Amino acid sequence: MATPSLSEVGGSLLEKAAGSSLSLLLAALALGLGFLLQVGSRNRRQPDSGQEKYPPYISSNIPFFGHAIAFGKSPIEFLENAYEKYGPVFSFTMVGKKFTYLLGSDAAALLFNSKNEDLNAEDVYSRLTTPVFGKGVAYDVPHPVFLEQKKMLKSGLNIAQFKNHVPIIEKETKEYFKTWGESGERNLFEALSELIILTASHCLHGKEIRSILNEKVAQLYADLDGGFTHAAWLLPHWLPLPSFRRRDRAHQKIKAIFYKIIQKRRQSLKIEDDMLQMLLDVTYKDGRNLTDDEIAGLLIGLLLAGQHTSSTTSAWLGFFLAREKSLQEQCYREQKAVRGEDFPPLHYDQLKEMSFLDSCLKETLRLRPPIMTMMRMAKTPQTVAGYTIPPGHQVCVSPTVNHRLKDCWVENVSFKPSRYLQDNPVAAGEKFAYIPFGAGRHRCIGENFAYVQIKTIWSTLLHLYEFDLVDGYFPTINYATMIHTPNNPVIRYKSRSHSAAFFS
Ligand code: HEM
Repeated sequence: MATPSLSEVGGSLLEKAAGSSLSLLLAALALGLGFLLQVGSRNRRQPDSGQEKYPPYISSNIPFFGHAIAFGKSPIEFLENAYEKYGPVFSFTMVGKKFTYLLGSDAAALLFNSKNEDLNAEDVYSRLTTPVFGKGVAYDVPHPVFLEQKKMLKSGLNIAQFKNHVPIIEKETKEYFKTWGESGERNLFEALSELIILTASHCLHGKEIRSILNEKVAQLYADLDGGFTHAAWLLPHWLPLPSFRRRDRAHQKIKAIFYKIIQKRRQSLKIEDDMLQMLLDVTYKDGRNLTDDEIAGLLIGLLLAGQHTSSTTSAWLGFFLAREKSLQEQCYREQKAVRGEDFPPLHYDQLKEMSFLDSCLKETLRLRPPIMTMMRMAKTPQTVAGYTIPPGHQVCVSPTVNHRLKDCWVENVSFKPSRYLQDNPVAAGEKFAYIPFGAGRHRCIGENFAYVQIKTIWSTLLHLYEFDLVDGYFPTINYATMIHTPNNPVIRYKSRSHSAAFFS
């Protein structure tokens, strides 16, 4: 067996730290790089200048790391306590960086209404996304170009396409769950993650790319996806970590596969009606077509933007329904009412009629929004609530906290889908109290697709199985991953009596 090089050993130690917890990663980072020498002065209270009043600063006795360990352990608790103590706007230090949170609807408006030149997304996201998607797309290009790219992608996510997507997703779901058998206990999150790659690839990339999605390609996606970690966000991109190398190799290989398929499509005489065709035909405002490299980058971005977000949401929805069987039964009754007792193939229009399933999904996104924090870099001084945020601060809004504020939400931490059947689920005027898909110029373009995908999968699953928690265990939240996934997400299931016919 080959002896690993020193850099590989060091790299995998750092990666183990990243895998186990954020705080360990931070420890390895600071010790390994010797940053501690220069930090004493950085962690002092921010001085208020003559005119400017800075946000309240939560001081810490721990040099450099500041509050990273407390935050990493339980970010929601940390932010809720700070909100109680300091109000909606406050700053603190983590790993030598200053963060200012804007909590509640009014304060969050600053981030959503700001221009990208003032509160900048590329500065905080590009180091994560560019190695994964590649150059020339998303946060690697000037914001007006990305806005054009978003507009192109959005034009391919329309109702006519969703009508094609529903039967594809239903078929993929039935096919995938054939292996589950009559009853058992399985890792629901793992299953839904695999299924969502298959369905998203089929719907968003097209049948040629879906047809080559075998275990080898799935491993390439997994390696690429390994680029979305705290390590990639915090550590310099040039470190020779094994996961960085795997990510870069996977990027090259996936791009090579996509180039071939794009070329074949360009040469084909048949015009398909899908996202890939749209990307081949669309032009920028100046009349230029997308290059193969840009198309490949956008295809990777489309797949990965929806991967963790939709798979964690689908899994949490399953656990909420397994915990509250009366809600699960209500969803099942709705399925029978909308689809009929013998479950003919599902249509897009029927998804619209599933208002209770819709409310359960909305409530899941309230209590478990996959993106816990949206972030921007302050490039210019920003005024909010009578405070000035200086340039250089990372300005953050947290859907997770806004979705649970007691002043906005009745029974704030209860899973209560019926709240959306009333006229005012949120206290009046709280525009940014519910923001699982963000708002403003960086708002998500994938919301409608995500709803189609998750509702189709769950419509199918509710027909196939009845779900229960295993010995009453409802998953705790894993804060070590960038998207808050369920810990030990095993669910108990048993077939409904008609499911054999449904599978056939
Ligand atoms: C449950 C599923 C999803 C959730 C909760 C979600 C959430 C979000 C959020 C919160 C943002 C705003 C980020 C920010 O302001 O910093 C965002 C942006 C975005 N999302 Fe999604 N997303 C989901 C699925 C998808 C899917 C399926 C796609 C693609 C098909 C997608 C593509 C995008 C894109 C392109 C942006 C724009 C980023 C920007 O302009 O800076 N998302 N998403």
